[in-house]
Amino acid sequence: MKYHVVTFGCQMNVADSNEMSARLEARGMASTPEIEEADLVLINTCTVRQQAENRALSLLGRLKEWKKAREGRLIVLTGCAAERIKNEVSWRIPQVDLTVGAKDIERFGERLDELLGERFDWVSETEEAFDSKVVGSGDPISYVTIMRGCNYTCSYCIVPSVRGKEVYRPPETILAEVRAGVETGAKEVLLLGQTVNSYSYNDRGFAELLQQVDAVPGLQRIRYMSPHPHYMDRPTIERMAGLSTVCEHVHLPVQSGSDRLLKEMRRNYTRAWYLEAVNYLRKKIPGVSITTDVIVGFPGETEKDFEQTLGLVEEAGFDSAYCFKYSPRPGTRAAALADDVPTPLKEERLARVFEKMEAQSRRNAQKLIGTKQEILVEETGEGGTKWVVGRTRGNWKVKVALPGRAPVKPGDLVKTKITSADGRAVLGEAIAS
Ligand code: 5AD
Ligand code: SF4
Repeated sequence: MKYHVVTFGCQMNVADSNEMSARLEARGMASTPEIEEADLVLINTCTVRQQAENRALSLLGRLKEWKKAREGRLIVLTGCAAERIKNEVSWRIPQVDLTVGAKDIERFGERLDELLGERFDWVSETEEAFDSKVVGSGDPISYVTIMRGCNYTCSYCIVPSVRGKEVYRPPETILAEVRAGVETGAKEVLLLGQTVNSYSYNDRGFAELLQQVDAVPGLQRIRYMSPHPHYMDRPTIERMAGLSTVCEHVHLPVQSGSDRLLKEMRRNYTRAWYLEAVNYLRKKIPGVSITTDVIVGFPGETEKDFEQTLGLVEEAGFDSAYCFKYSPRPGTRAAALADDVPTPLKEERLARVFEKMEAQSRRNAQKLIGTKQEILVEETGEGGTKWVVGRTRGNWKVKVALPGRAPVKPGDLVKTKITSADGRAVLGEAIAS
């Protein structure tokens, strides 16, 4: 049997998809990049904005014909949108054979066995066997979930209702996964959680976990996503700065530069607190790259509020930002407020913040010219003899020309001198040291 996975949304979803793929493979299925070849399609959904949900629904619509074309084909719906609409799936999207919402993702194997048992008289012992071993994916970057859920109640956000309250995985489980990744070739680990730095286990926090992960032999780089600004305090920053594998990159979602809106959003920090964290990060981690998420058009956002966001983009010196138009989500506190910024105005603000960010990103990229960077190779061209693409520790994507000696492969670290930067297209050439 062949399976095909489509993942929408954030890196947490990518990690969940990897985990579910491993469980499909433990049952003898093989992955295929072609939907037409697949017997089972798994759609791992996102519901953070309505548009993300719509994309999954439209794919499900197209899959009706796919399913009819061959007897026995299966459609599995998982993730955050699946959690939100799970009670409606059987009548709204009857082509779906199994729905596993985000809160149930850990029971995916069990639910899958029920379906396979029902349809194909499948008897599985794989789940137990699977649970006792941890397997690395073989990728240069290993995604490791350290916590699930979120204890915040940001007024625009649907995540807490679909993913539930925070649950932390034990450090031993996390470390075993990191080691398994390194053993199969990973050089970098991306630690994942909705508010990753609120991690806590038996009174030991995120900084202690970083310290333990940093000590894993063979691991070269640690990244984490996404930290919440509230927990970016001085002691945490100081401890992070002292760990050599922690990359000089922090993705720190700000959402708005207006104190009034931050309060309405229930973000639990002020503009001043955020900027203080940014400044301290810059002081303790020289050359740190800071990126962010921004929402425009939150209910009641005035031109003045928006200008404060624009000002903050500049003051914080972000290297890049994901910018979103506010999308009302059912059941959230903000959904009870009038969505009173008209769509054309949201679009105009999005374009303005985007334009500002692009210009700043270009300027920041220019500053890299002439510097030496270490690139972790993700992609290779012409057998890895002419060029490779990878990321710096600061998360800049760089295309590196090779001198044409021994071939370079994904997962290699290449010392690079940056030669030019046109926008975010940064170019470099490999150097001896
Ligand atoms: N509308 C628009 N953007 C949202 N985000 C979360 N909820 C919403 C919403 N209702 C954005 C935030 C968050 C990112 C993952 O998605 O910026 O950091
Ligand atoms: Fe949503 Fe806020 Fe939790 Fe992030 S911290 S997942 S924005 S509720």
